[in-house]
Amino acid sequence: MATPSRLAMHGGPKAVPEGLIAKWPPISDVDRRYILDSLAGDNHAFGPNCQAFEKEFAAWNGNRHAITTNSGTAALHMSVAACGCGAGDEVIVTAYSWSSSATAILHHNAIPVFVDIDFDTMNMDVAKIEAAITPRTKAILVVHLHGLAVNMDAVLAIARRHRLRVIEDACQAHGATFRGQKVGTWGDCAAFSFNQNKSLCSGEGGMFVTNDERLLQQARMIWSFGETRTPSQTRDYHAYALGWMYRNNDLTAAFGRAQLLRLSEYIQAQRENAAVLQAELRGVKGLHLPAEPVNHGHTYYNFTCRIDAAALGYSGDVSKLRDATMVALNAEGAPVGVWQQFILPAMTVFQAKNAFGKGSPWCLAEAVNYDPAYFPVAQRHTESHFGMTTPLRSPNAAQTARAVAGAIHKVFDHLDDLMAQVDRQPRDMARGSADVAGGNGAS
Ligand SMILES: Cc1ncc(COP(=O)(O)O)c(C=O)c1O
Repeated sequence: MATPSRLAMHGGPKAVPEGLIAKWPPISDVDRRYILDSLAGDNHAFGPNCQAFEKEFAAWNGNRHAITTNSGTAALHMSVAACGCGAGDEVIVTAYSWSSSATAILHHNAIPVFVDIDFDTMNMDVAKIEAAITPRTKAILVVHLHGLAVNMDAVLAIARRHRLRVIEDACQAHGATFRGQKVGTWGDCAAFSFNQNKSLCSGEGGMFVTNDERLLQQARMIWSFGETRTPSQTRDYHAYALGWMYRNNDLTAAFGRAQLLRLSEYIQAQRENAAVLQAELRGVKGLHLPAEPVNHGHTYYNFTCRIDAAALGYSGDVSKLRDATMVALNAEGAPVGVWQQFILPAMTVFQAKNAFGKGSPWCLAEAVNYDPAYFPVAQRHTESHFGMTTPLRSPNAAQTARAVAGAIHKVFDHLDDLMAQVDRQPRDMARGSADVAGGNGAS
């Protein structure tokens, strides 16, 4: 076997040359034209680009209605409210996601009830949903994490049996499919995000989608001050319900429309780059690659791997080994990072139950269990994973994916040294910088 070349962190050559990885998103003359046209217009608030964006995104995704928002979190909160989840109601959600998948439930005074994840898919374990249902359960909020759809047949069957609403957090999963059908078209309504890191980036922004006229009306009230009319209609400026200000603006929507023209190509590029990574990395000892189960069309929004300590025969602290591996990979020029270091129930807002004060909303119902020990699979995942986003994104292509795979091969060839090294190190020294999410301020 060839001797592995010296690690970049020890003075060897970088596996991923400087400047190879193109930044995200690609900006073209199309973006410039849309944005300059918006600037030349006379409505910079909820202007014509917002209305066009809603129609175009709904058509792209196969929904009857869409409302463009200033974030994915806003669209999630609108979903929770539109589905009638209110004070003291319980909403079932995965134990591992972005914080607002669960805090959006709190935003409407409802109570998140967590379900552990399935290790292979990293999504909520659908086999554990039913055990979490109580008479207070109102909805199941599924998160299609990292571009992989949840098994919606299973979720909808449970929802039908228990008469529950289904909300889809599709913030990371534009274009992901289950049995050939796009996410955001399965449940009662869904939320998408267009923040910096997303497969459709307009800087910030989001979209609420539904096929249900009544949910549309409810969501519109939440979205704009509790009013029943949109800013493009004659308004009476009357708050018919408690509302927020979740509207998008014309410039951001113009950017989103321009990017939407290439979204299908972007997703195809992510899939092709992931296929290169999968092929190049198959069989690397100690590396658990992301799964794409039958019937699922993965978009590889985030290509997330896990360190398989058992396969390595490693009995030390896997999170330390993961962190040291990331330091080595970052030095090689591979921008990997930890996406979420904490499972949701372990976050302070749930441990301290410090949402609205005076115990609200938890004081409105019976106690729910946020003991992290109840979510061992999610915990195991957070300790062992690292992921990447930018190298998967267009216009990066096979050359970039191969270089990143080369970096992973190189570092894993040195894993014995890293294992010996981390066992001697305090944790802080092994901590890597994160490109994924936290590292560049995106989620
Ligand atoms: C799974 C998930 N849900 C919700 C959100 C919230 O989206 P936004 O940042 O647009 O509010 C994000 C991203 O931040 C996410 O990754």
